[in-house]
Amino acid sequence: MKVISVVGARPQFVKLAPVAAAFARTALEHVIIHTGQHYDARMSEVFFADLAIPAPDVHLGIGSGTHGVQTGAMLAALDPVLTEVSADWVLVYGDTNSTVAAALAAVKQQRRVAHLEAGLRSFNRAMPEEHNRVLTDHAADLLLAPTELAMGHLAREGLAERSLLVGDVMTDVCLKVRASVAELPLPDELPAAVAESSVGFVVATVHRAENTDDPVRLAAVLDALAGLDVPVALLAHPRLEARCQAYGLVLRRGALHPLAPLAYPDMVRALLGARGVVTDSGGLQKEAYLLGTPCTTLRTETEWVETLAGGWNVLDPGLTKVKELADRDKPASDRGTPYGDGHAAERVVDVLAEA
Ligand code: UD1
Repeated sequence: MKVISVVGARPQFVKLAPVAAAFARTALEHVIIHTGQHYDARMSEVFFADLAIPAPDVHLGIGSGTHGVQTGAMLAALDPVLTEVSADWVLVYGDTNSTVAAALAAVKQQRRVAHLEAGLRSFNRAMPEEHNRVLTDHAADLLLAPTELAMGHLAREGLAERSLLVGDVMTDVCLKVRASVAELPLPDELPAAVAESSVGFVVATVHRAENTDDPVRLAAVLDALAGLDVPVALLAHPRLEARCQAYGLVLRRGALHPLAPLAYPDMVRALLGARGVVTDSGGLQKEAYLLGTPCTTLRTETEWVETLAGGWNVLDPGLTKVKELADRDKPASDRGTPYGDGHAAERVVDVLAEA
């Protein structure tokens, strides 16, 4: 039995880590294809190194482009590779352009596709990720859902028979890394003004198209972050840097302390030490929740709605509450375990082996 994992963007490397480790404990053959959607070392190689993921067997080197150009280039490049490797399953992850390209390339060859992190919905059709999720779920043969809510979405779209609840593989990684970094000092990458602040600090990330593509919106987001009452470690995704440069927006001002994206273990350590997180990232909302750090999300909705319970995560698309919310005290309510027990990846591998 042979399974191909297709990955390409930062969050997919995190999801791949526990899955690759689970495959390594079996006799199954696991082939990793990297599309090259993310190519900067800090967005790609460091994740393979820190999370002990085997190097990709095939690297397509696609790089950046408009959605159509990038997705189309991946589709064309994957076609001969899927034929040559000829696996029993093609496993795709999450909701990026790499996900939908791989799903489409596989079904066009009538190969079985499994979608990990199936059934998430924002119901916001302006988001490129929402197109990618819906199209991938409907193309796939096996839908591996992280939560009960995701299972419900799939059932409402007529996909119940192909769906299975396995839990969230990002939770597997987050809980494991938490155990290994909890006693470590804050990462050296955090500027002294952040790490030594007597009033604590906030970790922030901004990269979604809806927050970065419009100069007026991006300026408003940065103004709101610069005006917070505590120092902000702004982990600047290359997309954010590129947009700021194009629009002439300054990142280093007020409470803002921009720095390069952190490696995964450093990110977990920083989140454990932060008073709060302000973000538009899906993964970070969930990591903040798992690590018990209050989160403020600069979006109109979230796919990870379980994080909203008890006020652990609060949506503030209008930027009107972020100043009060960013460094709020931890809510008193219990968080429960809506994202599973940290063993989702083993279930994924078992299911593929038996299917
Ligand atoms: C992609 C995913 C998004 C995911 C995010 C995680 C899609 C549609 N979006 O968004 O769902 O949350 O990854 O990070 O697939 N760039 C670099 N170096 C890199 C990668 C990107 O400089 O290694 C810059 C380029 O200017 C590029 C821009 O970032 O044009 C955007 O990259 P892209 O992969 O298109 O989308 P992300 O914003 O990273």
